[in-house]
Amino acid sequence: MIATVRPVRHLEGAIRVPGDKSISHRALILGSIASGVSKVRGLSTGADVQSTASCMRALGVEIEGSSIGGVGMTGLRAAEGPLDCANSGTTMRLLAGLLAAQPFESELAGDESLSTRPMDRVMGPLREMGAAVAWPPLKVGGRTRLRGIDYEAASPSAQVKSAILLAGLYADGTTSVRETVKTRDHTEVMLAAMGANVMVDGLRVAVERAESLRPFDIDVPGDFSAAAFWIVAAVLANSRIRLAGVGVNPTRTAFAHTLNDLGCDIRITNPRLEANEPVGDIAFGLTHFQRPVTVGGTRTAEMIDELPALAVLATQMIGTSVIADASELRVKECDRLDAMAEGLSAMGADISVEEDGWIIKGPCRLEGARVDSRGDHRIAMSLAIAGLFAAGKTEIEGAECVDISYPDFFDHLEYLA
Ligand code: S3P
Repeated sequence: MIATVRPVRHLEGAIRVPGDKSISHRALILGSIASGVSKVRGLSTGADVQSTASCMRALGVEIEGSSIGGVGMTGLRAAEGPLDCANSGTTMRLLAGLLAAQPFESELAGDESLSTRPMDRVMGPLREMGAAVAWPPLKVGGRTRLRGIDYEAASPSAQVKSAILLAGLYADGTTSVRETVKTRDHTEVMLAAMGANVMVDGLRVAVERAESLRPFDIDVPGDFSAAAFWIVAAVLANSRIRLAGVGVNPTRTAFAHTLNDLGCDIRITNPRLEANEPVGDIAFGLTHFQRPVTVGGTRTAEMIDELPALAVLATQMIGTSVIADASELRVKECDRLDAMAEGLSAMGADISVEEDGWIIKGPCRLEGARVDSRGDHRIAMSLAIAGLFAAGKTEIEGAECVDISYPDFFDHLEYLA
């Protein structure tokens, strides 16, 4: 599908972004091994989370509307064939951890993009725990009784941390992960609420073997990474839209802090807790840009999913923006460093792609063009936001990929514009 985006001067309205994708995956996976029925309202409507739901169903779990029929720690049964993770790296990596600890073997399959993404980062630690793991195709499990390990994560990854913690629920002794950057902590938060013995000490998180987990009843907060596209749009249009009920867990909001450091005024109002996660409404004051974007190191890792949207913003900042230490973007759903450089260059931006980031000179007058999403939801949405500020029409090829995390994206865009 080709989506056409036309320029806007102003945005107006209030929207609810889809349920947080990361929390939704975890709710489905952990709810499946709880002792009893969990209730989850507001699950992400995206295809990635559907992939996790269908994998859990194939493993014998009943999932109906907002109910997850937890089968207990030892109640999963072998699926009849390979589990299809489609485009979802989170599904494949988290399930690799859970299934490595089961007494049966599982095969995890994915689409063309997922099949080329790195899996050694999760297989290494699982092997250390005594799990049987092979790749490709990814096969895990069948050898029971894992042992706890103390894992020092070389590069930041919430998926790897979560896979190890899930396996750790079945392992003898304590399993711990020490990170260099605190990545999103939704697994730890949910496990603690379910009664697991989780210990968090700075950058180290540890879990003990669990005999049972309590089911839960939660409302999933809105996805901050989906809100990030509207944050960029609102800031560039100097418009005061309202984004209600967005998850603002501090491990997810580095993007808002970065923008505020640049002179934006992004406020979190009406703070509350839902599902043990901080939630708020996002509101905007007036933006006074003073400087270009310069980010690297820890900060880059903390907002990895928001970097394509940040690149769009950087095209409109005065001066040379440098976004560094982002080589992880090369192994996301596509090579996001190349994809954004190609798309924004086609629109007339002055962007050069480095080994691990971008250098973007602004401000520049964007021109509508035909651009390629490369089948990557975050690229499609970022280029659509760029299109709102480009002269003429922008056509995004393969725009249906927004369904991966945000099926209503283009409806929301039309409403706000
Ligand atoms: C996710 C972790 C991040 C993120 C992805 C979702 C998660 O990936 O980019 O969109 O839900 O744990 P990495 O763990 O590979 O950094």
